[in-house]
Amino acid sequence: MADATSALHVSPVIPVVTIADPQHAVPVARALVAGGISIIELTLRTDTALESLKRIANEVPDILVGAGTILTPAQADAAMAAGAQFLVSPGVTPALLDHMLQLDVPVLPGVATVGEVMAVLERGLTAMKFFPAGPAGGPDYLAAIGAPVPAVQFCPTGGISLASAPDYLSLANVTCVGGSWLTPRAAVEGEDWQEITRLAREAAGLPRG
Ligand code: 3PG
Repeated sequence: MADATSALHVSPVIPVVTIADPQHAVPVARALVAGGISIIELTLRTDTALESLKRIANEVPDILVGAGTILTPAQADAAMAAGAQFLVSPGVTPALLDHMLQLDVPVLPGVATVGEVMAVLERGLTAMKFFPAGPAGGPDYLAAIGAPVPAVQFCPTGGISLASAPDYLSLANVTCVGGSWLTPRAAVEGEDWQEITRLAREAAGLPRG
């Protein structure tokens, strides 16, 4: 079950979340669930990310928790041990793909070119993260590659906001988008869980095309 298609269908937005203090992990996840978002990509960009991942996996059963920013096989293993329910990488290498595909977990690899899309398709995966979505070409680029590679469903991430999300979500080859705007640093560190719930509710209401 390496393909991450089902994860793309959970919510119109996958919040990409960076948490420094593991004490914030469970309240952030619960605030997202309260707003109707039941998936979270927790980035491995802090020393404490694995602890945060573990807490969410253990204490918030209503959310599907994945690990993002997976760059190495060792990070994939560590994320699995912490309870990750899906793995996200910003890009792909043959060694990382080989390794992640041996694990019993959905994998959402990052791609930015048609060649990378084809390399991931060769491994049997049809769900991919398009990263960094804005700088790599935005909705026009995704619309253009929908014709030659119609089998692929994307989760564009990087530079997307509530305002620009509909331009992506209306595309036939986009199932959901990813973004960090649901969990601004000020809200997380200021423990403003209501603000995160409000942002989640707005995002959960985005129509999919
Ligand atoms: C990611 O890690 O996928 C992106 O950095 C999230 O991008 P954003 O901060 O522009 O939403």
